[in-house]
Amino acid sequence: MKKALITGVTGQDGSYLTELLLSKGYEVHGIVRRASTMNRERIDHIHRDDHAKGNKLFIHYGDLADGEQISDIVYNVKPDEVYHLGAQSHVRVSFDIAEYTANVTGLGTTRILEAIRRSKKQIKFYQASSSEMFGSAKPPQSESTPFSPRSPYANAKVYAYWMAKNYREGYNLFICNGMLFNHESPRRGENFVTRKITMGIASILAGKQKYLYMGNLEAKRDWGFAAEYVEAMHKMLQQKKPDDYVIGTGETHSVKEFIEKSFAYAGLDWKKYVKTDPRYYRATEVDVLLADNRKAKKLLKWTPKVTFSDLLKIMVDSDMRKAGLLAIGEGDEIIKKKFSAKWWSKD
Ligand code: NAP
Ligand code: GDD
Repeated sequence: MKKALITGVTGQDGSYLTELLLSKGYEVHGIVRRASTMNRERIDHIHRDDHAKGNKLFIHYGDLADGEQISDIVYNVKPDEVYHLGAQSHVRVSFDIAEYTANVTGLGTTRILEAIRRSKKQIKFYQASSSEMFGSAKPPQSESTPFSPRSPYANAKVYAYWMAKNYREGYNLFICNGMLFNHESPRRGENFVTRKITMGIASILAGKQKYLYMGNLEAKRDWGFAAEYVEAMHKMLQQKKPDDYVIGTGETHSVKEFIEKSFAYAGLDWKKYVKTDPRYYRATEVDVLLADNRKAKKLLKWTPKVTFSDLLKIMVDSDMRKAGLLAIGEGDEIIKKKFSAKWWSKD
């Protein structure tokens, strides 16, 4: 039985990856940081009790700012694979808490790489690198596009990317950088743009909110479905050689388009409800991200199935359900067609 250790197990990707690995027979260990509330909503449906019969998901308290505890976990768990997903992952927030972001998102990677190096075990490592690293580089962006980061978050990720590469080359470790473009789902954090929009729609329809205040509507992103992206992470660590891969759909759409289409799907005219608030602007914006995903298609045999319009329907339906409203249902049909009998639980 293979053993995996996941940092960021309570996050969007961590929860899907846990389900994927459990379905493949892995024993999964996850690092959770202590909070005054139980911050495990996304894995609650998989894990209730370490002692439950047949349980194969084990939780360890730890923080990426605490190298000693991270080392201790790596030493005691002795994983075959580490998926390092933990991070302060919000770009806008990184401008407010730049030093903290550097510490957790940047140095956090060094702490775990050091623990692996010192363990002297052959532990495969996945680094959650980001398309944000490309920043202002001309689209489409591929593995050979030079980085041009535009935020404290992106700078921290660039540092972590190079540390991962340096440890691969210097210590002959099996390390992959997955440069993932934006990926979303019903489990997406509530203050990322797609989820903010789909939750806003449900809230407007439920009569709880009149307007939705947004930032820059012109930015363009390559948005895919998170459950498909964790499959790519796993594939990277199963290759013969460690390498770096761009993961994205190869399509780009503006925030405005996401708003227009999601509101229209819910039967609303977005112009009546959406207002802008400069509070959501960034000091420096990333204007266009668009993945050149040819390498992943060819070598990993990874091709995303969920399209831009599928994604927004899946997310609007899910948030309508969560708000106690009747979901429109096209999203459910898409899931049935593209994901039925798969490894993940529908939200
Ligand atoms: P997410 O939902 O924000 O999850 C981040 C995870 O990191 C959470 O489990 C969070 O714990 C944990 N974490 C934050 N600070 C920590 C700390 N100091 N110590 C330990 N754990 C900490 O992010 P995601 O969307 O799943 O993304 C996963 C990874 O991929 C991140 O590294 C992100 O930067 C990167 N990435 C994401 C995308 C995307 O579009 N989603 C694209 C490219 C790269 P709490 O639950 O307690 O907050
Ligand atoms: N969050 C947010 N809130 N973004 C808004 C808003 C708003 O009200 N209005 C417009 N936007 C714009 C942002 O300015 C940005 O251009 C775009 O919507 C996407 O913002 P986010 O959803 O916050 O994601 P991101 O692209 O900044 O970062 C995400 O993707 C990266 C990969 O490219 C995060 O998941 C990062 O962790 C990830 O690395």
